[in-house]
Amino acid sequence: MAQDTQLVGKTCFVAGASSGINLGIAKRFAAAGANVVIISRSEEKIAAAAQEVSAFGKPCIGIAADVRDYAAVEAALKRTHTEFGDIDIVLSGAAGNFVAPALGMSANGFKTVVDIDLIGTFNVLRASFEFLRRPGASLISITAGQGDRPSMFQAHVCAAKAGINMLTKCLALEWGPGGVRVNAVSPGPIADTEGMARLASTPEAEERVKSRNPMRRYGTKDEIADMCLFLSSDQAKYVNGAIIPVDGGSGCGDASGNALANYA
Ligand code: NAP
Ligand code: COA
Repeated sequence: MAQDTQLVGKTCFVAGASSGINLGIAKRFAAAGANVVIISRSEEKIAAAAQEVSAFGKPCIGIAADVRDYAAVEAALKRTHTEFGDIDIVLSGAAGNFVAPALGMSANGFKTVVDIDLIGTFNVLRASFEFLRRPGASLISITAGQGDRPSMFQAHVCAAKAGINMLTKCLALEWGPGGVRVNAVSPGPIADTEGMARLASTPEAEERVKSRNPMRRYGTKDEIADMCLFLSSDQAKYVNGAIIPVDGGSGCGDASGNALANYA
């Protein structure tokens, strides 16, 4: 991973960063010189992840906090502000997913995913506001293709991520005048992640997803981190309210031009 100085002196808060894509983003922010604070539910996992992030830069603080718990999220943001001052970058990426038809999902199953993804994103972004560098902060939600493409066995995720897309745009409208930009990154299928382990759990399913992607491969965590770093740079200072796909073109339909469900 390239070392650079783009974020020296800046403070980043990353929610849902004990593993996967969001941990990759936290590492990239650290490698660019930022002070980084990460949260997730598991005390053990977030402590181990903070150790990993620390290897890329300054000591990283890992805090156990559930994004469904507004007070816990607010306390973690407050601690970040106390330790490092105004927060420059907030990334909201905590999520849950399982593959199930709507009729195989209890009301609580549906609600659980909406609570983590959508309500959790509201909690993280809303609670961050008073601790942000204003003007100047960059807020990024992690959404998914399910947010604008209906997918079989993903009713909960489709509903939650569609909500995140609209929330992102509404906050961009309300907070843009104060110099706070709010955008979302929509990863395609990303290699070596829990998400794809759940969505394409066999080698055959993995090959099917790859064959439907115009680039004929999974993306990498680094490719998502690159976009998040760009969105946090001066080069992106007029980018606000955007839902940016980093998906190899899978949002355009499958490789034969058909708009098939990507995972079914
Ligand atoms: P992952 O490794 O399972 O990451 C999810 C993270 O969220 C974990 O660190 C988990 O840690 C945390 N988390 C879950 N529930 C939480 C809660 N209630 N409060 C706080 N933290 C919580 O999955 P991933 O595949 O890398 O996905 C990361 C993000 O990318 C998600 O937003 C996902 O929707 C999005 N995405 C992924 C793909 C893909 O190909 N993988 C594609 C499109 C979009 P704990 O268990 O410690 O809480
Ligand atoms: N099919 C149908 N329902 C399911 C399910 C499945 N595969 N997995 C969980 N549920 C239901 C449970 O039965 C429960 O509903 P009930 O109370 O009516 O029985 C509800 O979902 C909540 O489950 P619980 O295990 O208590 O939730 P949790 O908050 O501990 O965990 C999950 C949240 C279910 C999303 C869990 O998979 C998780 O922690 N995921 C995080 C990692 C992840 O999903 N990564 C990929 C991100 S893209």
